Amino acid sequence: RDATLVDPHGRAITYVRVSVTDRCDFRCAYCMAEEMTFLPKRELLTLEELDRLCLAFVEMGTRKIRITGGEPLVRRGIMELFRSLSGHLEAGTLQEVTLTTNGSQLARFAGELASCGVRRVNVSLDTLDPGRFKAITRRGDLSRVLAGIDAAQRAGLAVKINVVALKGVNEDEFEPMIRWAHVRNMAITFIEVMPLGEIEASRFDQHLPLTKVRAELARHFTLHETDHRTGGPARYARVGETGGLIGFITPLTHNFCEACNRVRVTCTGTLYMCLGHEDAADLRSPLRASEGNDLLNAAIRDAIARKPKGHDFDISRANLGPAVARHMS
Ligand code: GTP
Ligand code: 5AD
Ligand code: SF4
Repeated sequence: RDATLVDPHGRAITYVRVSVTDRCDFRCAYCMAEEMTFLPKRELLTLEELDRLCLAFVEMGTRKIRITGGEPLVRRGIMELFRSLSGHLEAGTLQEVTLTTNGSQLARFAGELASCGVRRVNVSLDTLDPGRFKAITRRGDLSRVLAGIDAAQRAGLAVKINVVALKGVNEDEFEPMIRWAHVRNMAITFIEVMPLGEIEASRFDQHLPLTKVRAELARHFTLHETDHRTGGPARYARVGETGGLIGFITPLTHNFCEACNRVRVTCTGTLYMCLGHEDAADLRSPLRASEGNDLLNAAIRDAIARKPKGHDFDISRANLGPAVARHMS
């Protein structure tokens, strides 16, 4: 029996992003409202349910799991899940376990993550200026994030920096941030801000096409095209002057749906087949309905059979329609 999940467009689904909490200690404006109402605990998958869910995906051919949030490291007991996933790594059934984090708790957890077989982390960091950092994250403390990045590197983790490109907010820092990252041996990726969550006009005003960013960077650096891929949507260029990598994630100006290999599960066990579509499948009910995984496996297969061909984000204001009402978290 073929164990892999293949969608109707012939794409093998081997990468699952699992959100383990809707909570975050930051409130980045493009991600969350200032005052958030978080979900009651019973709505969340328990750590045991998260573990069963991951196992089900691994048995169906998932090779890479990325733990996300909210901020994954604020979920109490989350190291138990990493500990358990490390077993699949050791068994060779899973190739990679990684996470996307805001870095605020990394100083505390870096060593343990490394001991659980995590080899790289993506840290979201949009600015190196403390005042701006406060303005963007509304609650974050830059020095803690920088200490977290140091701790991660000392623990032997490869760190990639994610920068959401915000027009008029951080665009003047891209060049120095690249130098800062590359001196520390970190790749750095720029992301176009996506129309997720309640859209205020400002988000569209903040949209900065990465084609423009790239052209601007090419005035400072020699950019060599590479075929370096990490299984994610980023395209990477190597900088002649620093030897480091710059990634570009361009969902709006260059859509990469043809090569999509992923699905997402929210912290309540809802499976989304595409970031740009509302269609979803409830995996919590089958998880809670029985101890065995038959119902769960069937629900996953049913859902993958409906995976859409692509998203239809549109950057023009005239087309607010297709934007998605949920946030990244
Ligand atoms: P690696 O390539 O493994 O480093 O992972 P990644 O870049 O996919 O993961 P990361 O969490 O760092 O993703 C960075 C950002 O890329 C996400 O938060 C999104 O903004 C964007 N992104 C990731 N996956 C998708 C996707 O499937 N579709 C779209 N449109 N954007 C995505
Ligand atoms: N558009 C683009 N990137 C976003 N992120 C969160 N919300 C958005 C959005 N609306 C980014 C974060 C982090 C990653 C998980 O998603 O900055 O790097
Ligand atoms: Fe938290 Fe990341 Fe959202 Fe910022 S972007 S509020 S750090 S989950």
